[in-house]
Amino acid sequence: MLQIGADYYPEQCSESCWPTDVALMNEAGVSIVRMAEFAWSRMEPAEGQYAFEWLDRILDLLHQGGIQAVLGTPTATPPAWLHARYPDIYPMDQRKYRLGFGIREQRCLNNDNMRAYGQRIIEAMARRYAEHPAVVGWQIDNELSANLCYCPICHEKFHVWLQGKYNTLDALNQAWGASFWSQEYSDWAQIPLPWHVKGGVFHNPSLQLEFRRFQSQATIDFEREQIALLRRLAPRHFITHNMMGLHNSLDCYELGKELDFVSWDNYPITPWGESPFGSPLAADVMRGIKQRNVWVMEQINGITGWNTMGRRPSGEWLRCAAWQAVAHGADAVVFFRWRTACYGTEQFWHGVINHDGVPRRRFREVAAFGKEIQQFAPMLDGTAPRSEVAIVNAYEQHFAMDIQPQAEGLGIWDQAAHYYRALQTRGLNVDVVPLSAGLNAYKLVIAPSWYILTPEDAACFIDYVQQGGTLILSPRTGVKNADNACYEAPLPSLLRELAGVEVDDYDALGKDESSIQTAGGQKYATSVWADLLQLHGADAIAWHAGSVFTGEPAITRHHYGSGAAYYFGVFAEPALYDALLGRILEESEIQGLMELPEGMEAAWREKDKQKYLFLMNFNDSERTAAVPGGLTALLGNAPENGSITLPAYGVGLYECAMNPHGIGTHQTQTSICKA
Ligand code: GLA
Ligand code: ZN
Repeated sequence: MLQIGADYYPEQCSESCWPTDVALMNEAGVSIVRMAEFAWSRMEPAEGQYAFEWLDRILDLLHQGGIQAVLGTPTATPPAWLHARYPDIYPMDQRKYRLGFGIREQRCLNNDNMRAYGQRIIEAMARRYAEHPAVVGWQIDNELSANLCYCPICHEKFHVWLQGKYNTLDALNQAWGASFWSQEYSDWAQIPLPWHVKGGVFHNPSLQLEFRRFQSQATIDFEREQIALLRRLAPRHFITHNMMGLHNSLDCYELGKELDFVSWDNYPITPWGESPFGSPLAADVMRGIKQRNVWVMEQINGITGWNTMGRRPSGEWLRCAAWQAVAHGADAVVFFRWRTACYGTEQFWHGVINHDGVPRRRFREVAAFGKEIQQFAPMLDGTAPRSEVAIVNAYEQHFAMDIQPQAEGLGIWDQAAHYYRALQTRGLNVDVVPLSAGLNAYKLVIAPSWYILTPEDAACFIDYVQQGGTLILSPRTGVKNADNACYEAPLPSLLRELAGVEVDDYDALGKDESSIQTAGGQKYATSVWADLLQLHGADAIAWHAGSVFTGEPAITRHHYGSGAAYYFGVFAEPALYDALLGRILEESEIQGLMELPEGMEAAWREKDKQKYLFLMNFNDSERTAAVPGGLTALLGNAPENGSITLPAYGVGLYECAMNPHGIGTHQTQTSICKA
């Protein structure tokens, strides 16, 4: 059931505040809290001495107040006594500088002492709380990222990892092309970490990719060890982890595998500017990890900031952002944080309640949202977003692109955003999924730079199109094999036959502008990258204009099997995607449901025969969207003559009639409402 919650740190305020907190949580409709993920030193003040009485007391109070708790495993903040005893838990950076105590996450996850002591505190917590009536689940650690540590322990384990993978040094030397710059190894111990050396960190890309895989897996092993322990000791509880939206240092599909569901932290704005953490794309990436609904474990609820503060978002905007999370598949919205900290680094990251403990404006805003959620929870129970369009994703592509970015704007999420925006303005749900999710359920699949291309992945794409799917490929597809070495073949290498093109030449434009022209004579500005395409079966649908490639094909379409493969050899201004994707959506028989103005968003949740539309206007003035017929307003303005107008930061929720013959002028579009 949909619910709201708060991240709660009772260890950071005086105990006399607790009863007030619980009463105010009740008033706000908060039915879940996440807690204890940074409280190791309070739970184990000295080695082996546990002090859980305070946690017992607050959990009892919460239980009396009808509030449930998710307990965080506290391994993001190892206590000072542990570091004093085992200084080698501190990680090393690329200059082999040993980091010290002071913030959090100052730990190498490959360190056996870190792991053993982590297991011990978790075991103590689980034994104590497995049957506590307030506790319903666990969050593993906090916002895990790849263990990018360069300490001697990591070095040694990296060698073991490499031996396990390549077996012989000959195989490794060969796969990595180690003859380049005389880097052939005759002993495993000679293989460096990608640390800072003369010339910087420009190591062999094969070595770098393997290191990224190794350290991604190190974090995942650390996570899985915790999961295994909790499954054994607290089998009635769910286990989740709070991921970070578009963060890509580790393989989130592997990270998600053993969890019951994914949670994520949603901060669309921070004082540091536009944030990779929160956005509708991030929400869809998070939902796609397990292809099921998620929780938002931390949701922005006011002024953010550590030393510098962000602007105070309006209550309407905050509500809009929270509804957006729900629309994209969140079943719980947990606000970060309940009480604003009077101490510590995050004093200025504002909670629901101010430093003074008095419930003020933000409290009332959260409470109002809580009321709405309570009202619609029964109706939305069991609903989830469904989509006919997918963007495919693999974290290896991010690793490899981070290692060699090649041109500004070529990042995988940057690329995805071009297509995503165009799909969004048509009011379509978009899934972001790994290839293993299976593509056949989708009518249209977009694969931003499938840069590392294995024969298995290629077969997946080929099969999908063969069976009737429509696939969009982009530049830098098939450049590398799994060892991060370039294919000795024309691009897009293993997908050449599918795409019906060969890349004859290319240009890393970055921020520089160029242009293309479509068959209709329409011109569009391009940047980032330009592929000059040679036709080998495909038809050109746009040509380069105004560059050294003028007149040559830039975008192509190839009918293949029962489907079609498009190759977009450029990155263009939004208007091109609106025009071309509009056409492709029609060909794929996905009906463009709506026309949404910039900053207005739609998303759908459905179950059985029920279907609900969420509309959000993120503009600071009113906007009107063209919508299909058959919509009944449950929240926000009702449709009038095929359109809905929402005020600044307005939210609308609509029930969609299942009757395809609906409604007057918008008949053709109503069919998308069919279950
Ligand atoms: C992250 C963390 C929280 C807190 C917030 C605000 O999302 O998970 O512990 O630090 O940011 O800075
Ligand atoms: Zn290390």
